[in-house]
Amino acid sequence: MPTPGDDAAGTGIVRSALFVPGDSEKKLAKAMASGADALLLDLEDSVALSNKQRAREITTAFLKDAVTKSKRPRLFVRVNAFDTDLTADDLDAVMAANPDGIVLPKSESGQDVTRLDAQLRVHEAKQNIEDGSTGIIAIITETAIGTLQAGTYARASKRLESVAWGAEDLSADVGALRRRHDNGTYRDLFRFARIQTLLGAVAAKVEPLDTVYPDFRDDNGLRRECEDAMLDGFTGKMAIHPAQVPIINAVFTPSDEEIKRAQKIVDAFASAGNPGVLGIDGEMLDRPHLRKAEKLLARVGISSHQSG
Ligand code: COA
Ligand code: MG
Repeated sequence: MPTPGDDAAGTGIVRSALFVPGDSEKKLAKAMASGADALLLDLEDSVALSNKQRAREITTAFLKDAVTKSKRPRLFVRVNAFDTDLTADDLDAVMAANPDGIVLPKSESGQDVTRLDAQLRVHEAKQNIEDGSTGIIAIITETAIGTLQAGTYARASKRLESVAWGAEDLSADVGALRRRHDNGTYRDLFRFARIQTLLGAVAAKVEPLDTVYPDFRDDNGLRRECEDAMLDGFTGKMAIHPAQVPIINAVFTPSDEEIKRAQKIVDAFASAGNPGVLGIDGEMLDRPHLRKAEKLLARVGISSHQSG
C-alpha cells in the first residue's frame, strides 16, 4: 500500500509534522530519523529571544545539508510572526538553504499569507530557486481575529498547502484560564478554533492539520485525539516529540480496506456512466460519497481515474 511521505520531499500529504527547536543540533539530527512526513524547524516559540540569531545559523546549516538527502522528510521552517520584527531576518537566513516551505505562525487572515507569498517570491528570485517552489503552512487560530478570519484563505496563495491551529497563543490572547475539561476534551473556545481550521482548510482547498498534543508521554491520549481528528476530516497532526510520530502516522494512514472500498465506489460510478446515485452492497451512494472516496484515494496518491 502506498504510504504518503515514504517518498519524502515528494508531494504526499503530510500526516505527521514534527516540531524541532531550531537551536538544537542534537534534536535536528534526531528528527531526520523520526519517520515524520515533515519537520517544522522552529525559530519561534521554542527558541529564546537571546538565541534567535544562533537558531537561524544552526537551522540554515542543518537545512543546507538535509535538503540534499535523497530520503528525507519535507523540511519547513517556522519563522517568527509578522508582529515581531524578526520575520525578515529569519527569511534572509533560511531561504539561502532552500527549504520546502515556511510555517507562518499567528496568521490573522489570508492577507498575511499573500504577504508572505510576495516575500518568498523575492527570495526565490535572489537565490535562483524555482518561482513558487516554497510552500506555506499557516497557523491560523493563535489570535481571536485570526480565528474569526479562518474563512479568508481561499486564493490567498498557490503556495498554501495546509492550515493548522494552535491553542496556547489563543488562550493567551483571549485570557482563557483552561484549555481542557477534566476528561481531557477541549473546552468550547478551542473546539471552535479547531472547527474553524477544518472548514477554513476545506474552503481554501488545502489540508487541515490538527494541533499538537503537548503531553508527550500519554500515548493513549494522543491516539484518541488523532482518531477524533481523523474522523472529523483532518489529514494530519503536528507533533512535538519523536515518540508521537508513529502513532500519528498510523492513525492518518487509511487502511487497505478503506482504500479498497473507496476504489470500489469510484469504479462503480465510472462503470455506471457517472450517475447521480447508485447502490453498492445494499447501500445508497450519491455524489458526496463519490467525492469522499476520491478524496481518500487522492490522500494515498491514487488518482481516481486509474482503476485499482
Ligand atoms: N525533535 C527531535 N528530537 C527530539 C524532540 C524533537 N521534537 N524531542 C525530543 N527529542 C529527543 C531528545 O533530544 C532525546 O534525545 P536523546 O535520547 O538523544 O537524549 C530523545 O528525543 C528523548 O527525549 P525526551 O528525554 O523524552 O524528551 P526531552 O525532555 O529531551 O524533551 C521537549 C522534551 C518537550 C523539550 C522536546 O520534546 C522538544 O523540544 N519538543 C519540541 C518543542 C517545540 O518545538 N515546541 C514548539 C511547538 S509547540
Ligand atoms: Mg505559539
